[in-house]
Amino acid sequence: MKGIILAGGLGTRLYPLTYVTNKHLLPVYDKPMIFYPIQTLVKAGITDILIVTSGPHVGHFLGVLKNGKELGVRHLEYAYQEKPNGGIADALSLAEDFADGENITVILGDNTTDADITCSINKFKDGAVVFLKKVSDPKRYGVAVFDSKDPEKISKIEEKPKNPKSDFAVTGLYIYDFHVFEYIKRCDPNFIGRGELEITEVNNYYIKEGKLRWENLDGFWSDAGTFDSLYQATDYWSQKKG
Ligand code: G1P
Repeated sequence: MKGIILAGGLGTRLYPLTYVTNKHLLPVYDKPMIFYPIQTLVKAGITDILIVTSGPHVGHFLGVLKNGKELGVRHLEYAYQEKPNGGIADALSLAEDFADGENITVILGDNTTDADITCSINKFKDGAVVFLKKVSDPKRYGVAVFDSKDPEKISKIEEKPKNPKSDFAVTGLYIYDFHVFEYIKRCDPNFIGRGELEITEVNNYYIKEGKLRWENLDGFWSDAGTFDSLYQATDYWSQKKG
């Protein structure tokens, strides 16, 4: 399996910090943010990794990650997303050649977790897997809506809903088969009206095909794209180390 880390965008929610560098290179306790998703992939045996990035500070990644060897990455590639606000699915579209028809594990570069997803990766055959986490503020995320007749089944995912139908956030870790690139091509930038190609729309295509499964993400998980979540992630990792 190959791994893809999406580390683009302008990080506007973290201005003025992101005037100086890319969001994913800001510190989460004692490491640049992007080290965490890289470690999650390497721990799961994925050492062939593509980082998709964008924005004014893209050159900084090379200086920090070099060829990835220090982090256990066997093969590291970079791709450049021309529209930094094109959205997560637009960033992922750049991974089509790298994936070359294989299954892929995708992690958002601002997601930090100590979960071990090795089993989920090893048993994955086709379709898509999303990892859910119960949260206190679901409005900030993609939120799972469960089927009223079969509560084990997700009937749809709503992106940043005003009235969330569950407390289960769709975290930024996904496993996909090659159909993902076909679904991205169908995405509408006005899916939720923020002009971005949304990964939630891609996941809803898998649901329509009856090909989306979900698992609980065990352990700590937080994104780090806002001041509060960056603080929360930093606090967790400092206590874990300390
Ligand atoms: C993105 C996704 C959202 C997901 C979240 C996890 O949100 O669109 O579905 O729950 O990442 O971090 P964004 O970071 O764009 O607000």
